[in-house]
Amino acid sequence: MTMRKLKSDIKKLLKERNAILLAHNYQRDEIQEVADLTGDSLGLSIEASKTEAKAIVFCGVHFMAESASILSPDKAVIFPRMDAGCPMADMITRDGLVKMKEEYPGLPVVTYVNSAADVKAVSDICCTSANAVSIVRSLKDAKRVIMTPDRNLSHYVTRFVKDKEIIAWDGFCPTHERLVPEDILKLKERHPDALFVAHPECRPEVVDLADKVASTSGMYVFCRESAAREFIIGTEMGILWRLKKDNPDKKFYLASKKLICPNMKLTTLEDVLVALEKMENIVSVPEEIRIPAKIALDRMLAVPRD
Ligand code: 13P
Ligand code: SF4
Repeated sequence: MTMRKLKSDIKKLLKERNAILLAHNYQRDEIQEVADLTGDSLGLSIEASKTEAKAIVFCGVHFMAESASILSPDKAVIFPRMDAGCPMADMITRDGLVKMKEEYPGLPVVTYVNSAADVKAVSDICCTSANAVSIVRSLKDAKRVIMTPDRNLSHYVTRFVKDKEIIAWDGFCPTHERLVPEDILKLKERHPDALFVAHPECRPEVVDLADKVASTSGMYVFCRESAAREFIIGTEMGILWRLKKDNPDKKFYLASKKLICPNMKLTTLEDVLVALEKMENIVSVPEEIRIPAKIALDRMLAVPRD
């Protein structure tokens, strides 16, 4: 089947099923093209919870489909590739976190949304890569805070929050971890006027070289509003599709060819079509996990941005 036919069949089925198609910013170009909404994981789930649609097709990785289900328990969340996991989310388990909490009794736990629902359920508050600093600052009475699972995001927070000790879980994103300072220095030599924009999941020594550190959504805003004409992009390559589409007169260089998340690339148009035809691969979070996980997400959503 041609790509055009696949896309039109998907569009038709989405209407018939009263479903909405969401794609994370790292998805394949053709998935982002056919999606009703593209965005970061939490932004997508929040938008989806506001729609009238009965079903959500989530193209991303498993924890994102879980977040959609946590926020929209009355909608069917279809996840075309059940094998699309996140290695960073898998670096922490609920039991592991419970054990850490026992080692540090009474400390608040801040968990990055890139985590499984059962890990969120034993956390006090969630954060995203966009609001992590504000969330940690909001814990006014805490002198020490546990942050999970991304050690690099935790390190990034320590640059801004000087009055608290952050005890970081030792997880990381293998995709962002592949980017090293030499990659940036080489590209900077070839493109001296380009600004380097890094995701906070990058290693601290890479973040040190950044002109701007931002979440994927923050990168869209920064590159659109910046007067600069060239950018070196330090995050997963899927982000380039919309950056180029929204800024046809600007140039974008991926900081390294290694910036590909294999899990984000698993979902194909065929997978989306089959999942919609069969209405299979439903992700649903059991109530005993969903309710405490939602409390951690709601607490985060209640914190005003700095
Ligand atoms: P954001 O889109 O929230 O910046 O997350 C990046 C990421 O690694 C998602 O898997
Ligand atoms: Fe997980 Fe990193 Fe892939 Fe995002 S890019 S899904 S954090 S492995």
